[in-house]
Amino acid sequence: MRMRKKKRGHERLEALSALVITNPEIFKENGKFPFYEDLPLRLEIGCGKGDFICQLSQRDTEYNYLAMERVEDVCVAATEKYARGRGLGDLDYYGGWRTPDGEVYKGVMWDIPMEMRGNVRFMPLDANKLEEYFAPETFETIYANFSDPWTKNGYSSRRLTHPDFLNRYLKLLKPGGYFRFKTDNDELFEFSVESVEASEFELLYVTRDLHNSDRAQSNIVTEYEANFSSKGVPIKFLEARKK
Ligand SMILES: C[S@@+](CC[C@H](N)C(=O)[O-])C[C@H]1O[C@@H](n2cnc3c(N)ncnc32)[C@H](O)[C@@H]1O
Repeated sequence: MRMRKKKRGHERLEALSALVITNPEIFKENGKFPFYEDLPLRLEIGCGKGDFICQLSQRDTEYNYLAMERVEDVCVAATEKYARGRGLGDLDYYGGWRTPDGEVYKGVMWDIPMEMRGNVRFMPLDANKLEEYFAPETFETIYANFSDPWTKNGYSSRRLTHPDFLNRYLKLLKPGGYFRFKTDNDELFEFSVESVEASEFELLYVTRDLHNSDRAQSNIVTEYEANFSSKGVPIKFLEARKK
């Protein structure tokens, strides 16, 4: 996702760092995640500006969520959207984060009380290192929405549905756990269906027109999805389960 360089992006992430995880490898050691309630965990890879995770986490409250986004400025936007949505304040006009009590934090952490932090944490990190961060059988579901298609020759190994990535997901999902994937891109979608079929996943559901399928009602529209579907591009979706 391209984005104009955010002013004081790192500082802004710092102010909300109670909602941000930068050292997930510690969870591999102690198996504990920093949530108020101990709930099954879902992961979104490439959360963009956070529309999907903000809505999903409010709808399916019986889960905790990690939202991973490798571009720090985009992760800042998602974290701020989530914090705003939870009534945790807003950007201060002069810079920094203004809490509901009117205190302004610039480049330091606002130590949001645990019970107010909700069920999402953001990670400004790359999914290439998933196995370094998480222990096997950590997640109930892994989502990847509108990930980069990498259509140039020689780049398919970077696709988030490349067999190497699928094998990582298989390790990190609990038995019976789900992988859910959406895209506008035909080539990437057909590649993804083939990769899943050739993997140890069981392919449960495939549609090449999600918005006119029986999953349309339960679908949560992402930023990219809204853009593509407004141009008439059908959205493709697949769901797979770890056997
Ligand atoms: C095309 S955007 C889609 C954003 C959002 N999911 C949506 O549907 O609107 C893909 C996002 O995934 C992020 N991304 C791509 N590969 C990633 C990776 N390996 N690890 C973490 N984030 C990644 C990109 O930085 C970008 O923000």
